Amino acid sequence: MDGNMLKNKVALVTGASSGIGRAVALAYAREGAKVVVSDVNPSGGAETVALVRAQQGEAVFLAANVGQPKDAQALVDHVLSTYGRLDVACNNAGIGGPSAPIADYPLDGWDHVININLSGVFYGMQRQIAAMLQTGGGSIVNMASVLGAVGFATNSAYTAAKHGVVGITQVAALEYSSKGIRVNAVGPGFISTPMVSKLEQDPTLNAMLIAAHPMGRLGRAGEVAELVVWLSSDKASFVTGAYYPVDGGYLAR
Ligand SMILES: NC(=O)c1ccc[n+]([C@@H]2O[C@H](COP(=O)([O-])OP(=O)(O)OC[C@H]3O[C@@H](n4cnc5c(N)ncnc54)[C@H](O)[C@@H]3O)[C@@H](O)[C@H]2O)c1
Repeated sequence: MDGNMLKNKVALVTGASSGIGRAVALAYAREGAKVVVSDVNPSGGAETVALVRAQQGEAVFLAANVGQPKDAQALVDHVLSTYGRLDVACNNAGIGGPSAPIADYPLDGWDHVININLSGVFYGMQRQIAAMLQTGGGSIVNMASVLGAVGFATNSAYTAAKHGVVGITQVAALEYSSKGIRVNAVGPGFISTPMVSKLEQDPTLNAMLIAAHPMGRLGRAGEVAELVVWLSSDKASFVTGAYYPVDGGYLAR
């Protein structure tokens, strides 16, 4: 642990068994938070907890499917019974879903992506906000994407969900800014995580993705986590309802 931006805070990260969520959990712990690592994948979650403890941080794993309202409720209830409060939440869990043009897009794929990537953020915020209201406030960071601002051919469900995440982030900020709860969204460009590793293995697609980022490379999970930590912390005390890209310049053209 080498920072104190989140000292004595209790922080929850969903989708924290892998990729960006794991990097956020590690960065939260580095800044002094007690971290609740949540995911549907317990073995990856145990690895994240072990990585946090290896850097002298504090973390526990709680299994929850963000697409199930009962799970979202039980997760926050468990955080409250363990730590008595919830100060920070990063709604990060998400999936890529099928790739197909709209006329061919599978309906079950649409429902699945919207359930996890959009409804999951809504279910999570409902319980998180209720918990934060009990202790006078908190900070929520929702994981959108550059596809929360622009489209990507063949990814209609993902793009719709991420635009929706930006929208409900703004609504939550409007509803709770006077109650001490800040709510923001971040928009990563393409980041090297297990979610995009299949795309990276296709040389043509990989070259196209790299070329889409003016910096000439994909991002790293830790680069997203640094923005999330700042938005989660009191350093961002006048920031709410905002959407911050972290995208190597993807949206600049
Ligand atoms: N990697 C990128 O290029 C990129 C870009 C923009 C946004 N994002 C977003 O960042 C977030 C994390 O993505 P990542 O790249 O780290 O992917 P990842 O696949 O490495 O990690 C996603 C994690 O979410 C978990 N998860 C999936 N469904 C879940 C559910 N129903 N309930 C709880 N956990 C669930 C998975 O088990 C996994 O551990 C996602 O919301 C994704 O859309 C990723």
